[in-house]
Amino acid sequence: MRLSGRRILIGVTGGIAAYKIPELVRQLKAEGASVRLVMTEAAQSFVTALTLQTLSEEVVRTELVDPEQEFTMGHIELARWPDIILVAPATADFLSRLAGGGASDLLSSICLASRKPMAVAPAMNTVMWENAATQANMEKLKALGFLIWGPESGDLACGESGEGRMQQPQQLSENLVEHFSSGPLKDVRVMVTAGPTHEPIDPVRYIGNRSSGKMGFALAQAFAQAGAQVNLVSGPVDLATPAGVQRHDVETALQMHDQVLQLLDQCDLFAACAAVADYRVQEIAQQKIKKTDNELTLQLIKNPDILAEVAALDNAPYTLGFAAETQDVENLANKKRLAKNIDLIAANLVGADQGGFADDNNELLLLWDHGKLTLPMQPKTELAKALVEQVTRNYLLRK
Ligand code: PMT
Repeated sequence: MRLSGRRILIGVTGGIAAYKIPELVRQLKAEGASVRLVMTEAAQSFVTALTLQTLSEEVVRTELVDPEQEFTMGHIELARWPDIILVAPATADFLSRLAGGGASDLLSSICLASRKPMAVAPAMNTVMWENAATQANMEKLKALGFLIWGPESGDLACGESGEGRMQQPQQLSENLVEHFSSGPLKDVRVMVTAGPTHEPIDPVRYIGNRSSGKMGFALAQAFAQAGAQVNLVSGPVDLATPAGVQRHDVETALQMHDQVLQLLDQCDLFAACAAVADYRVQEIAQQKIKKTDNELTLQLIKNPDILAEVAALDNAPYTLGFAAETQDVENLANKKRLAKNIDLIAANLVGADQGGFADDNNELLLLWDHGKLTLPMQPKTELAKALVEQVTRNYLLRK
């Protein structure tokens, strides 16, 4: 499942190679990707929307002006949804529309309204492909940052043989796998801590906190999607391991500390999202503590501060810390950043009414030397992506 968690929007335009798109969709789904499709009017003469809808398990969009479809998912939302847009097959006419910035149909409007990476898989007759106008359009698209996949040489549907055949579904699928494994953090080794720690009191009780691990797991996933090799050191949570992430489960702060130190020689960037218990019980009772007296006193001692220890190392990795505050967020988070010597701190307001812990959504205030950015309330999966984008920029600048 090399594409699990990836969101791919396929734009199908009107060429005979459109008959290969059902096979492409099948392969991408088998690799774990979520696939949505948009078809031009001409594409529907070669393959039906119903076939693609059945294989993708998603509604296929065809019309720009369709109030019902726009109500379900507007074209702007659709432009924001994918991790990549692939136009396959891309006809000479559609490539010319893209190169000219046209927006006369749904697919070209989505391409124009999206900031996501875009790839095209040209498919046409050899003479059309070699035509100076098509080649000029391809140069323009390359300069605009489009990925150009193909075309291949071979027998064409028009009876001629030469360059112009769309890359096979298997090849397009491999291109996508390759694209996602070569993000901006390719070859960067990241370690993320996530979740709570549990500090035992006796064999059946512990001191814990409300962290669900959602934010840390989303962060590990976003780093992996940016091409990093990710070690995730997690406290006790009930979450599935994100694709491409190496998970190490721990329970206590001391175990998390030891695991982090053990993996530190494989770490260029350390992201401490775990809600680590600051204190642990000094003497863990060997047997269940009986309810005898009216009062019970537990002696607590300080746990090591994992993030501060990592950041203080001579050869410290780039450090991303979190600050969970119940008041005066910016001021307290900035103090934490300076005290622990952290490169970037992501601060959130937490508490009974504020959320932060366990919720699916959150907002963050990012603070670094001479920099500040607010990431507004959104799902933690999206928030993690935006955070990774900023951390990537800062990390690459520091190198
Ligand atoms: O897990 P979720 O339910 O999704 O909730 C997400 C979150 C609220 C837990 C997350 O967004 C968050 O704020 N994590 C940090 C929580 C925390 O412990 O904050 P802190 O201000 O107490 O600690 C500051 C930093 O030092 C954190 O990066 C923390 O990981 C680190 N730390 C703290 C104590 C310690 N002994 N070792 C540490 O490494």
